[in-house]
Amino acid sequence: MNVAIVGASGAVGQEFLRVLEQRSFPMDNLVLFGSSRSAGREYMFRGKSYIVKELKHNDDFKGIDVAFVSAGGSTSVEFAETITKHGAVMIDNSSAFRMENDVPLVVPEVNPEDALNRPRGIIANPNCTTIQMVVALNAIEKLSHIKRVHVATYQAASGAGATAMAELIKQYEQIQKGEEPTVEKFAYQLAYNLIPHVDVFTDNGYTKEEMKMYNETRKIMHSDIEVSATCVRVPVMRAHSEATWVETERPLSIEEVRNAFAGAEGVILQDNPSKKEYPMPLFVADHDEVYVGRIRKDLTNPNGLSFWTVSDQIRKGAALNAVQIAEYLLKVGNIR
Ligand SMILES: NC(=O)c1ccc[n+]([C@@H]2O[C@H](COP(=O)([O-])OP(=O)(O)OC[C@H]3O[C@@H](n4cnc5c(N)ncnc54)[C@H](OP(=O)(O)O)[C@@H]3O)[C@@H](O)[C@H]2O)c1
Repeated sequence: MNVAIVGASGAVGQEFLRVLEQRSFPMDNLVLFGSSRSAGREYMFRGKSYIVKELKHNDDFKGIDVAFVSAGGSTSVEFAETITKHGAVMIDNSSAFRMENDVPLVVPEVNPEDALNRPRGIIANPNCTTIQMVVALNAIEKLSHIKRVHVATYQAASGAGATAMAELIKQYEQIQKGEEPTVEKFAYQLAYNLIPHVDVFTDNGYTKEEMKMYNETRKIMHSDIEVSATCVRVPVMRAHSEATWVETERPLSIEEVRNAFAGAEGVILQDNPSKKEYPMPLFVADHDEVYVGRIRKDLTNPNGLSFWTVSDQIRKGAALNAVQIAEYLLKVGNIR
């Protein structure tokens, strides 16, 4: 197995190195790529040093079996042909190809087989907020078809990359010193604040992030499910949280939903309010699973349920999900 990471210096790229190492992903060679900004930088992997190469239109991907790509949508679009032309499977973290008909959009707990049909050699990793939601929804869908979802997200600063994390830390330091905080990554100061605005606004008043949750969920679940989302950036460093309300075709008991979550792949049930046990980003950061708690009947609709999920969006929402896709392809013998 020859593996490439494109965007190695970034928040997701760095997580790829950790996830591949921790999971002992089978690998003969690793090649790291970045822009001219990070080219030449050195990273350690399994006790060996690797130097970042500048991503160029050449034959550097000859012999690469899997390329984990997390360098933004425009880089993915520009370099897809260069990355895939010699047969590498490109697992892309950007939103560039997610809704294209000839690119599968895959969450291994939900629709792994979709990864087998990839005419362009590209598999898209869904948006981080969508991944954690569909892992949880999949458990309920097996009990009764989900007709609609309302969700409010509480998204960590790191969802906007490594520089956004640095900016949040800097803002707290600047405010402590009585200085004006630097605001570059988000529309407003995030420290001591929250911002109901993730990605750009579209014509219908929803943001692109919110529309990703609508469209991607339908594609992954092969469902007519409808999702209305409000995406909010919060001053948390890592791990996104979501307050989710679902309406199913038949009324479900809390007991059967709890059992479904307890047995679902990739889910950890953490739901014991009397002992103050519920998922929180501080404790879920760096973990693999989607944590689910606060499960209760909706008070306004007998077919409605409310629950709360938290998941590390750099891990399950990005690097881990992509590595799990590659592991699935290896398991079924579908990497050349
Ligand atoms: N952060 C998350 O939680 C998350 C979750 C899901 C998906 N994603 C997606 O993953 C991608 C990366 O996000 P991130 O958070 O890791 O961002 P980031 O921390 O800002 O890192 C961006 C990476 O892309 C590289 N890059 C930028 N332009 C490039 C070019 N022309 N050629 C080669 N490499 C280039 C950068 O390299 P240089 O250092 O050389 O500039 C850097 O390694 C984005 O598409 C994002 O939407 C992120």
